[in-house]
Amino acid sequence: MLSQQDLKQQAADAAVALIRPLLVADAVIGVGTGSTADLFIDGLGRFRGQFRAAVASSERSAARLRGLGIEVLDLNEVASLSVYVDGADEINAKLQMVKGGGGALTREKIVASAARQFICIADASKLVDQFGKFPLPIEVLPIAREVVARAVRKLGGQPVLRAGFVTDNGNQVLDVSGLTILDACLLESTLNSVPGVVTNGLFALRPADVALLATQQGVRQL
Ligand code: 5RP
Repeated sequence: MLSQQDLKQQAADAAVALIRPLLVADAVIGVGTGSTADLFIDGLGRFRGQFRAAVASSERSAARLRGLGIEVLDLNEVASLSVYVDGADEINAKLQMVKGGGGALTREKIVASAARQFICIADASKLVDQFGKFPLPIEVLPIAREVVARAVRKLGGQPVLRAGFVTDNGNQVLDVSGLTILDACLLESTLNSVPGVVTNGLFALRPADVALLATQQGVRQL
């Protein structure tokens, strides 16, 4: 029986194998955040020097990349990324995701938006029929925390401030449970239109292009 860590490793290895043809001299790779993304970064390290650089969705991932000798570029220095690889907290059959368990949701969404292809890597326990088991993270400007919390309650959610946590952008995160997420695109837009919301953890308007989900029987590609 493979552990969850083994499964994450398999998904990360599958992503490295899938993007191997893209690791060419001028390629810049978008890299996500989290324990599965960390394993992907370690795999990428084996190809250091064979591609130009990476753009990271968090300071944590940037430090890990640099530690392996991979150059990390600011997104503003890059016209486009060949691919973005990241984990997820939940993913559905449409490859829409809930992300932000690591609090990097805003930079993840921005870096992903610059990539030609989004590859989601996870163990298959993250595949769900309906979102909602994992609380939905929302990054908020600190001044707007209570305004946003009231708006979220009106939508049926129960927001909880992620205690002691500050994002790489200097903001706070509300983790929202209790939402019935029937139309993820609509809810993503609705939440993002609340003044003070920086972004929310629904990645539905721009879903992944490929999901590599590790099961006990091997990696399933969706
Ligand atoms: C970080 C994220 C992560 O991708 C998500 O939380 C999954 O993390 P892990 O790979 O550790 O399960 O969105 O903001």
